Amino acid sequence: MRSLISKPIADAKAPLKGSPSLPGDKSISHRALIIGASTVGKTVVHGLLEGDDVLHTAEALRALGAEISRNDEEVSWHVNGVGVGGLGEASRVLDMGNSGTAARLLMGVVASHPFVTFFTGDASLCRRPMGRVGEPLERMGARVAARTGVRMPLAVIGTTEPLPITYRVPVPSAQVKSAILLAGLNAPGTTTVIEQQATRDHTERMLRAFGANIEVGERDDGSRAIQLTGQPELRPQVVKVPADISSAAFPLVAALLVPGSDVVLKGVGVNTLRAGLLASLSEMGAAFRVDPLREEAGEPTADIVVVNANKLKAVHVPAARAPSMIDEYPILAVAAAVAHGVSRFDGLGELRVKESDRLAAIAAGLVANGVKVEIQGESLIVHGCAGPVPGGGSVATHMDHRIAMAFLVLGLAAKAPIAVDDGRMIDTSFPGFVDLMNGLGAAISQIEAS
Ligand code: S3P
Repeated sequence: MRSLISKPIADAKAPLKGSPSLPGDKSISHRALIIGASTVGKTVVHGLLEGDDVLHTAEALRALGAEISRNDEEVSWHVNGVGVGGLGEASRVLDMGNSGTAARLLMGVVASHPFVTFFTGDASLCRRPMGRVGEPLERMGARVAARTGVRMPLAVIGTTEPLPITYRVPVPSAQVKSAILLAGLNAPGTTTVIEQQATRDHTERMLRAFGANIEVGERDDGSRAIQLTGQPELRPQVVKVPADISSAAFPLVAALLVPGSDVVLKGVGVNTLRAGLLASLSEMGAAFRVDPLREEAGEPTADIVVVNANKLKAVHVPAARAPSMIDEYPILAVAAAVAHGVSRFDGLGELRVKESDRLAAIAAGLVANGVKVEIQGESLIVHGCAGPVPGGGSVATHMDHRIAMAFLVLGLAAKAPIAVDDGRMIDTSFPGFVDLMNGLGAAISQIEAS
């Protein structure tokens, strides 16, 4: 059977200019819906990311009994919550699509509800490890019935008597931390999560903004303890979701690579636990400005201004920075490919279990386009081309939106066009990406493939 695949090709063209309207932060959007559903009353969300990942969370919460609707006039989303512990059993399997965040956070939510929930996802999500969430949730009293390797499809058998636990998260993962905290919402007493390396703290910030008692403290060994008092009465809020730094990263790096560019990225969330890319780009000598703005949804925001591209130099990104830019390695690798010198990124083990094996996908995409790379254990080494890369290759995206977008950006700084084999997954996090980039002056086109 012939299938149609949208297959964008990026080609080097004119300078990028403009101030595009960026999609809302994906992480914060999931949390606004989930925490809104845990209040009694109406939460209004402005700037929600209307990407497939977040729409899967909305659909699942509806199936669990929350009322969620889009107000087309205001372009806002309304969540009529059912209160902490008030969700009901879904009568069908919850499909999480491509979204690890939707899957893991919702597994946490339902674990402390007294019913059974079935989860599934697309081929990419069904390959990803869920035991990292299942293990702590079982300690809280839930049971997770899954196929080999604790992969989806799976069932969470929620507990009638959730236990508050103290849990040290073995991998740096905001999804695991958040799953435990969201399960802990409906447990009596204090749930404590200890993380060795701080990960994005959107759940903590949003729970606090909704009225939960949540305390964060540094421990003697340098780890971070997050303590949540269970069964709070959360109050509905008006949430304004900042623009997603993980999405802004693509036009940002594109503007830094295409000479003569002049791009302003407005209202971007610059939470320090997300902004590692900005530090890494600065160390590469990238010329951009971060103009701080107000807080939105308890999160700092800023305008990011690129006034011109300039020569980038290689960078060594230490493992300690990985959690604050975990989703940005594909696009940083693209910048490193164009830079002068040899870049090294350490501590990338978690990239192996993202929407694809991102470490392998980044390396293969760069090699296909004439860039020399090495993988040494958990490190990626990129030999910069000191200018446009040869290009001309086709990149396998493996159902990974960020691999697709990163290599389309590389095509703007390549001597020959770069094709990606499948652009469909881009809609999971950045609907309208191709139009937005072309609106800035890029040349990305769709071709049909069998
Ligand atoms: C996310 C956490 C990160 C990140 C993902 C979104 C979140 O995943 O890669 O895109 O919203 O909590 P991990 O928790 O697996 O590191």
